[in-house]
Amino acid sequence: MKNYSSHRAMKFTESVIREMTRICLKHDGVNLAQGFPDFPAPLEIKEAALRAIQADLNQYAITWGEPNLRHAIAEKFAWYNGVTVDPETEITVCCGSTEAMISSLMAIVNSGEEVIVFEPFYENYGPDTILCAAKPRFITLHEPDWHFDERELTQAFNNKTKAIIINTPNNPTGKAFSHEELQFIADLCLKWGVIAVTDEIYEHILYDGAKHISIASLPGMRDQTITINSISKTYSLTGWRVGWAIAPASLTGSIRKVHDFLTVGAPHPLQEAATTALRIDRTYYQTLARDYEKRREFFSQVLEETGFRIYRPHGAYYIMTDVGHFGFSDDVTFAMYLVEKFGVATVPGSSFYSHSSLGATKIRFCFPKRMETLEQAAKQLRKFKTEK
Ligand SMILES: Cc1ncc(COP(=O)(O)O)c(C=O)c1O
Repeated sequence: MKNYSSHRAMKFTESVIREMTRICLKHDGVNLAQGFPDFPAPLEIKEAALRAIQADLNQYAITWGEPNLRHAIAEKFAWYNGVTVDPETEITVCCGSTEAMISSLMAIVNSGEEVIVFEPFYENYGPDTILCAAKPRFITLHEPDWHFDERELTQAFNNKTKAIIINTPNNPTGKAFSHEELQFIADLCLKWGVIAVTDEIYEHILYDGAKHISIASLPGMRDQTITINSISKTYSLTGWRVGWAIAPASLTGSIRKVHDFLTVGAPHPLQEAATTALRIDRTYYQTLARDYEKRREFFSQVLEETGFRIYRPHGAYYIMTDVGHFGFSDDVTFAMYLVEKFGVATVPGSSFYSHSSLGATKIRFCFPKRMETLEQAAKQLRKFKTEK
């Protein structure tokens, strides 16, 4: 039969992370693949959503976002990230940060222009660059501390560079970019007139005293940055699909146009409830980070005890591991063995790299789960250890 798929769609595969979730369901396993919590979201936010539905907020919201929500986003961006923005002209509410990222890239990148991506990367960034016809340039984050080589990054910038994607705290490595690193990137962006597109959805999930820094807060960068965020991770609401892009007015106009024709808007009642989320008592964020730190401690120990070599994360809720010494032919074989035989779903490392060989000895675990779930996974991994 004739192949009707576009060349564009043929250039990438289905998400490995989402596929692992489906395989996990089939084996009735513990899902430590896809990064979503299995514990409830805060009650006051859920009640706000119920109230919004009962108040009949059932129709389209303003396409670029409910005014209340845009004001709440601007308030929070000022207090937490130290950047003042105009909610009328500099914020676009989207269907999660996933849509905010692709709308932003489609709004700024022309075919053939280059986008710098740190590798390993959150798997969406690969297809995102393909969908906007950009040429990705990958810059390695070197283990064990996931630093980048300043010379390599400097050489990647040129007249064709349109944007650099930053993700801090980082999925999958758990790296929180330091002030010095962000300043180095900012200096290159300013020199070459490049837009920093920064995905900061793990901004409140930090360990070991690490601080979150938004590149938009560095001198000169406010007008050259698109900051992407959502309620998914901070408030444990990944299924609500509410996110946003914060950008100077000149770029926001283009982002809003792309967003409008891609999705029209994010769910109206959930936007209203997201306003309550963003104005939650600030102690919530400390508790969130502390609770995740406990999970990180517990699960890091489990992994070490069961023979995995771990890269200790300083932020986000993933642990990247090296499994080369277990002797499997590659990461996909290993991940399939773990889910089929021991009921623990993980993500093969190759899905975070441009060439699968680069991730062939790596496996990512996520830990935004109830302690009982993590204990169940621990039990299964101990069985794996006995068998090995
Ligand atoms: C770095 C990163 N960005 C974006 C997303 C997706 O976020 P959202 O649910 O807001 O679309 C994820 C989800 O795992 C992620 O890890």
